Amino acid sequence: MERLPGFRDFYPEPLPEAEAWSAELRRFLFEAWRGVARRYGFREYDAPPLEPLELFTLKSGAEIAGQLYSFADKGGREVALRPEITPSLARLVAARERHYKKPIKWFAIPQLFRYERQQKGRLREHFQFNADLVGENDPAADAELVALLIDSLRAVGLTAQDFVVRLSSRQAWQEFYTHRGAEPARALDFFQVVDKLERESPEASDAKLKTLGFTLEEVRAFIAAAQPTADLTRILHNLSARGLSDYTRVDYTIVRGLAYYTGTVFEAHDRRGEFRAIAGGGRYDNLLKLISGGKTDLPAIGFGMGDVVLAELLAARNLRPKFEAGTDAYCVIDDETLRDDSLRLVQDLRNSGLAVEYALTSTSADKQLKRALELGVAHTFKLERLGTGKLLARLRVLATRSERTMLAADLAAALHVDPAAAPQS
Ligand code: HAM
Repeated sequence: MERLPGFRDFYPEPLPEAEAWSAELRRFLFEAWRGVARRYGFREYDAPPLEPLELFTLKSGAEIAGQLYSFADKGGREVALRPEITPSLARLVAARERHYKKPIKWFAIPQLFRYERQQKGRLREHFQFNADLVGENDPAADAELVALLIDSLRAVGLTAQDFVVRLSSRQAWQEFYTHRGAEPARALDFFQVVDKLERESPEASDAKLKTLGFTLEEVRAFIAAAQPTADLTRILHNLSARGLSDYTRVDYTIVRGLAYYTGTVFEAHDRRGEFRAIAGGGRYDNLLKLISGGKTDLPAIGFGMGDVVLAELLAARNLRPKFEAGTDAYCVIDDETLRDDSLRLVQDLRNSGLAVEYALTSTSADKQLKRALELGVAHTFKLERLGTGKLLARLRVLATRSERTMLAADLAAALHVDPAAAPQS
């Protein structure tokens, strides 16, 4: 049976084919994200993958609402698989914010589901690193989030030559929109046309803008002026103090499609413009109030970074790490009368934290050695029984083919001291 289109199987390395998705690359990304979140003082949270449909239809805007995997459950409730985690985060924080010191700094790595048209960088499920800071409306918080975004990408090996964070302002766009006397209720439609400018033909964008009372030319002129707002100026200054100026630029092409953004918005893109956005986020100062029915009113800012574009970008820039089995040693059993003692030794070594492999059934020594080489181990060892009945372990360093023998009981210590060191004969 085939998997559903837009969904992925994750295979262990070595991958069966170049296009297969790697469970180990996924773990690498998650570890990098968790490591950076820790360095910035963010704590992990999660929420249910299935939520009331209303949570998303009310708060996220038409684009995401149109991509929902939604259905009525057996109890007749209208539910949806989460297409993003921000509305759930707003609910969690609104429900328990008094328990936490402000600003609240939380992260999550949820799997998200969107019934999108499949294309490069866009699937129907993805994992998304989310970092959000709640309870601080100073642009210093915006800068902290942008710095975290930059470091999340640096943590996987990308540099200022590979990506740029494009900073913009919903407020600036809102003012542009309102000053021209356009219909307030259609502001989000306008933002969505701007959001798609880079992906749609100029003719299509111009036609859509005209129905809203704008021309492509005046929108382009506003983008070209790139006049930073007071908030953006402070964010740029803050990032420059950290030495991160090379990673950012003001770019009003960014406006973001989601409904709830209110201020600073930003996206990370590859420099060559070959891929869809690697990450996107912004300030959403009204969402908590909306979700809590007015009970909690806290400003917030955050971003989401997907694993799909990031994995594609790492592959394209040759930055995908090599994933080895991580086996420390291989136990060769060429005398079946020593199998039980070998199992005991393997068990002891594994208990001491070493990764040890051996052949499950009687196998020729040649095949065992071949397997050890495939696993990339530095050492093999085998047991030998002396005439006195004493057990010795013969340890071999594959790189140098040198060997030494020792009491089986000393093997763990020898492997732990310096697993790759050449033995003294
Ligand atoms: P978003 O721009 O919809 O924002 O998604 C953020 C990132 O998730 C995108 O830049 C992309 O890397 C990835 N992504 C989104 N959709 C897909 C897809 N169908 N396939 C693969 N990757 C995808 C949000 O979701 C906001 N909730 C982020 C946020 C957090 N804003 C504030 N806090």
